[in-house]
Parts: sequence; C-alpha cells; structure tokens
Amino acid sequence: MSSSRFAGKVIIVTGGGSGLGRDYCNAFAQEGGAVVCADINLEAATQAVEDIRKAGGTATAIECDVTRADEVDNMVKEAIHTYGHIDVLVNNAGIIRRRSLVGTTEEDWDKQVDVDLKGPFLCARAVALHMMERSYGKIVNISSIAGIAGCTSTAYSASKAGLNGLTRQWALDLASHGIRVNTVAPGYTATPINAELRQTPAGKRIGETIPLGWGKPAEITAAVLFLCAEESDYITGQTLAVDGGVTTTIDMGSEYLTFDK
Ligand SMILES: NC(=O)c1ccc[n+]([C@@H]2O[C@H](COP(=O)([O-])OP(=O)(O)OC[C@H]3O[C@@H](n4cnc5c(N)ncnc54)[C@H](O)[C@@H]3O)[C@@H](O)[C@H]2O)c1
Repeated sequence: MSSSRFAGKVIIVTGGGSGLGRDYCNAFAQEGGAVVCADINLEAATQAVEDIRKAGGTATAIECDVTRADEVDNMVKEAIHTYGHIDVLVNNAGIIRRRSLVGTTEEDWDKQVDVDLKGPFLCARAVALHMMERSYGKIVNISSIAGIAGCTSTAYSASKAGLNGLTRQWALDLASHGIRVNTVAPGYTATPINAELRQTPAGKRIGETIPLGWGKPAEITAAVLFLCAEESDYITGQTLAVDGGVTTTIDMGSEYLTFDK
C-alpha cells in the first residue's frame, strides 16, 4: 500500500463490488483507509475485498440493498462494529434504465428513483446521525452528467439532478456539524454499466463528441478521493463534473473547428 491520505479513516462505498465503486474501494485502501464495500451483490463485494486484502489493504464486505432502510441501518451498524466509526460515505450504487419520456413505465421510474435517489437519501441519513455525534464527516454523492444536461434517460436524469440538489441541501443541513457534502458527476466512463453501449455506433459517436474522449475509472476516482480527503475541507455543496469537457462544449464537427482559415 502506497500513500496514507486515508490512514485511520473508515470509508463506506455503496455499490463497491464492481465498476467505478470497486475502483474507489481499491484506491481508498491503497491510501491507508479501512474500506466497507457494501453491495447488493455480496459475491462481487467479497471478491473486491479479497483483492484488497491480498494487496495488503483493510476491507470488509457487507451485503446491502440501498433501497431498504433496514439493510442500510444494518450496514452502518456493522461498519461501526467492525471499525469503530465512519468518516466517509460514497453514495455510488446505481442502475441505469435508458428510456425516453414516453417509454418510461411507472415501474421503470420507481425502480430507478428508488436506487439512485432514495438509496443515497437512506444512506446519508443513517451515516449522518453517526457523523453528527463525532462532528466530522464527508459525504460524496455520485451523480452523472445526466443530472446536468439531457443525454440519457427520464428517470435516471431526474434521480441524478435530484442528487445534485440534495447535495446543496445536505451541505447546508450538516455544515454546522463539521460534515461536508459534495457530488462528483462522472461523464462517459468505460465501465461494465456501458460495455454494450460502447460497442455500438452510438457509443463510438459519443466518444468522438467528448473533447477529451471516454473517461477512465482512475480519472473519476482521483476526483472522488480529493473530495473525501482533508485537502478539500473548505469545499461543500458542490457538484464537480468530471466529464472530459462534454457538458461545457457544443460539438459541431471537426470542419467547424478549423478556426484560423
Ligand atoms: N460508468 C459511467 O460512465 C457513469 C457515468 C456517470 C455516472 N455513473 C454513476 O456511477 C455509479 C457507478 O456506476 P458504474 O458504471 O460503476 O456501474 P456498475 O453497474 O458497474 O456498478 C454499480 C454497482 O452498484 C451495485 N448496486 C446496484 N443496485 C444496488 C442496490 N440497490 N444496492 C446496493 N448496490 C447496488 C451493483 O451490484 C454494482 O456493483 C452509478 O451511480 C452511476 O450512475 C457512471
């Protein structure tokens, strides 16, 4: 294990068993943190934890469906029982149902909003009660560029935009308790959630319209760890888009970019 930015810190990552969440777990452990890898998929979480331990890190796996208040409360209890306290929560667990407005069923809406909006609420509420007792904590929500610009899906966009709003609200609620709340909004990042999409012509076209191309998990992880570390202590209530510039630009094609002719 290399640096020690998170030595003595306990970090819960929801959805830590695969994709970006797994990358966060590895990085926190590499920087000395004790990681609670919570996932609805216990097998994936257990595998992630075994890999961290093999590399010399400290981690534990907990099965948790973030849409269930009883399981979330149990996750918090188990984390405190195992490591004594919680310093950081990364609200990462998420699903994606790509649907237009008229293609979104009530069931699509309920499922998406349950995991991506209610889940972070339940986790933040449970963890905040504990953090308030200690007058310290960091909560980082993982939203998406879909919460900033229209690009993906009705219920997904609603959940992620909602999470950006909650970030500002919770920052205000919790500042006097020493708890900082921020959001990282990843752009198009190559993970299992979009493996199929990346193989399609649409996926390739997406890559061409992002000024810096498809993102790598490590590039998102660096921003998440920054907002969880003490170096960002004066930052709260912010949503940081880590998206290769895609939400700040309009791609009109390469011909239009020959400015000097
Ligand atoms: N990959 C991208 O390009 C991208 C872009 C923007 C935002 N995001 C966001 O990043 C987060 C992680 O995405 P990813 O690409 O790593 O996805 P992923 O599918 O690879 O991983 C998601 C993890 O969440 C877990 N999970 C799903 N439902 C859960 C539940 N109810 N309770 C607990 N765990 C649950 C899954 O088991 C899985 O391990 C999501 O919130 C997603 O919306 C991803």
